[in-house]
Amino acid sequence: MSFLSATLARVKPSPTIAISARAREMKAAGRDVIALSAGEPDFDTPDHVKAAAKAAIDAGHTKYTDPDGMPALKAAICTKFRTENGLDYNPSQISVGNGGKQILYDALMATLNPGDEVIIAAPYWVSYPDMVLLAGGTPVFVETTAESGFKLTGAQLEAAITPRTKWLILNSPSNPTGAAYAWDEVKELTDVLLRHEHVHVMSDDIYERLAYDDFRFCTPAEVEPGIFARTLTVNGVSKSHAMTGWRIGYAGGPEDLIAAMRKIQSQSTSNPCSISQWAALAALEGPQDHIEAHNAIFRRRRNMVVERLNAIDGIDCPVPDGAFYVYPSIKGLIGRSTADGTVIADDETFVTALLNEAGVALVFGAAFGLSPHFRISYAAADDVLAQACERIRRFCESLR
Ligand SMILES: Cc1ncc(COP(=O)(O)O)c(C=O)c1O
Repeated sequence: MSFLSATLARVKPSPTIAISARAREMKAAGRDVIALSAGEPDFDTPDHVKAAAKAAIDAGHTKYTDPDGMPALKAAICTKFRTENGLDYNPSQISVGNGGKQILYDALMATLNPGDEVIIAAPYWVSYPDMVLLAGGTPVFVETTAESGFKLTGAQLEAAITPRTKWLILNSPSNPTGAAYAWDEVKELTDVLLRHEHVHVMSDDIYERLAYDDFRFCTPAEVEPGIFARTLTVNGVSKSHAMTGWRIGYAGGPEDLIAAMRKIQSQSTSNPCSISQWAALAALEGPQDHIEAHNAIFRRRRNMVVERLNAIDGIDCPVPDGAFYVYPSIKGLIGRSTADGTVIADDETFVTALLNEAGVALVFGAAFGLSPHFRISYAAADDVLAQACERIRRFCESLR
């Protein structure tokens, strides 16, 4: 009998975390490696947020809180949803967890039974399929194309729904493509959902605040109030406020689901860190000007990376609307060989050879369910990005 559970055998560790760890190991061994594989802003947490956390410690806010968030934070989240998204949640419809990741995991654990299906558009954030598997459900992948801007269409959604579909997971702006759904594109999907009352929507809006070129963000429950009662609107401060290490995510959703998620947290992590909750409260209620400043920098870096990659023969890089990722195609490089004779058979061989030979760590497209691509996180300094693009160019040009 195996010591480890059968469920765990169905799950793989996060490939993005694995690649970042390999890059760190190579650096520790003295190699010159540029890692563009991690999904976190390179900016520091704003000073007023840090100050709020220090004040919380000094004020003795160092005890357990309610399992799914303290009342003041839930109230601030209700205000955020109402003023920024036009969504009217009351505090009993709000859950706060250890990052958006725990919120998504709680919701899947709270609702999935064996055989329940979860529709996931590919390319997808690496954790969705494995979280579904851990919770005992079945991920159902729908491949999008560069032509549709890596976005799920109404016809694709309609074709993927079965009587066993429990959730549709939507992520806009997206990790890994940066693609973001415009109002009419969300409406096309919600029109389909109106016809299938048994399907719930998990809208992962974690990159909401990172959208460029006047893109207007919208979320499904706002676009179609008819699906509000079966939508979980997920968000957090990790990406918007450069707070990945603080671990605060949250969601608004139906009261019975939120109560079920609270039960899971009460029996697993008890509550998100009290200090981090005070920091998140300051993030939501305090000045937001850093977001515009960060976005101006992200936009400039995106443009630079897209331009440099598109200048390389064999790479085709669409311009994304948001997040801090680009997801270029390397179709033009497949079949070529490195100087030592390694054939670039797929995106994984490309990324491995690039890391070993040129010292640039990226994540291969297969990890996100759509090949042949790679993901660059451009949450890094301009000169680092420029150097990485130059190394990629030289590596690609060396292929025969
Ligand atoms: C699409 C997406 N959703 C959710 C998360 C989770 O973010 P956190 O748990 O830091 O709030 C991430 C983090 O990389 C992400 O990329």
